[in-house]
Amino acid sequence: MNKDFLSIAELKKEEVFELLTLADRLKVEKDVKPLAGKTVAMIFQKPSLRTRVSFEVGVIQLGGQAIFLTDEGVGLGVRESAADVANVLSRFNDAIVARVFDHQLLLDLSKFATVPVINALSDLSHPCQILADLYTIRQHGKLRDHVKVAYVGDGNNIVNSWLELASIIPIHLTLAIPFGYEPDKTIYDKAIQSNVSKVEIIRDPRNAVNKADVVYTDTWTSMGQEQEKTKRIYDFWEYQVNGSLLRQAKKDVIVMHCLPAHRGEEITDEALDGKQSVVNDQAENRLHIQKAIMAKLIGKM
Ligand code: CP
Ligand code: NVA
Repeated sequence: MNKDFLSIAELKKEEVFELLTLADRLKVEKDVKPLAGKTVAMIFQKPSLRTRVSFEVGVIQLGGQAIFLTDEGVGLGVRESAADVANVLSRFNDAIVARVFDHQLLLDLSKFATVPVINALSDLSHPCQILADLYTIRQHGKLRDHVKVAYVGDGNNIVNSWLELASIIPIHLTLAIPFGYEPDKTIYDKAIQSNVSKVEIIRDPRNAVNKADVVYTDTWTSMGQEQEKTKRIYDFWEYQVNGSLLRQAKKDVIVMHCLPAHRGEEITDEALDGKQSVVNDQAENRLHIQKAIMAKLIGKM
C-alpha cells in the first residue's frame, strides 16, 4: 500500500484481499497492538456516527489513542492551510484521519503530511465504507466473480468508490441513477476502460435490480447538499428501495445501505429492517476493516 489511503483506486487487487484477511485476523486476535504508543489525529468537517466511533474504537483496540478535532477548532483550509495543518499534525501524531467536503484538502494533507493520511469521506469518495461493504458481501457468502451489485439512487461519493472497486475486482455493477445525477465522469470512464467489471447505468430501477445479488442505496441528499433536498426528493421519487422493488431481485438478495438512512425516502422501513438487510453488519465492519487499514499503514503489519 501507499503511504496514505485516499481512494480504492490506489490499491491492487491482492492488497484489497490482504486487507480483508487482516480484518478477519484483527477481529479475533484482540491482543495485537500495532498502534501501541501511537496517536491518530482525526479532523472532521462533517458530522459522523459510524466513521468517528469506528476509527476511535479501532485505534483504542489496536493500542493507540485517537484525538478528535472538530473543524470549528481547526479551520482546515480557512484558519490555516492544509499544508500547515499537515506539517504540524505530523510532528505530534502517527497518522491523520480526515473527513472533508473538498477532496483537494485530502490531497493537500497527503502531500505535506509525513505520516499516513486516511480518507474518512469526502464529497468525491468514501473508500473505507466500500471496503467494509466488500467485507460484508464476503461475510454473507456473496463474494464471487461478477456478483451483481445494483445500486439505486444518487451517483455520489459512495458510487464513485464502488466504481473504483469495480476497476480492480470483477463485479457486475448496475447503477440505477436518474439523468443529471451520474457519478464522477473520470472515475466512471476509468471503470469502463479498465474492463475488469461489467459496469452499466440503467435508468429503470426495476430493470437494474433484476436478478441482483446485492441491492445498495444511499441518501438522495448527501451532507452539504441540504439546500437541494426538496428538488432531490422530487427527482429521485421513483428510485426508492422498497419491498416491491426487492421482489425483482434474487430471492436471497441482501440489502445494503451505508447509513445514515432517510427512512421513507431512499429506503422504506420494510427494506431497511427486513430479513434481507445487512446494514448493521456493514456498520460493524467499518471497525474491522479500518483496523486492518491502520494496522498496515501505521502499525506496518
Ligand atoms: N456510513 C458512514 O460513514 O456513516 P457516518 O457518516 O455516521 O460516519
Ligand atoms: N453520500 C453520503 C454518505 C454518508 C456516509 C454523504 O456524503 O452524506
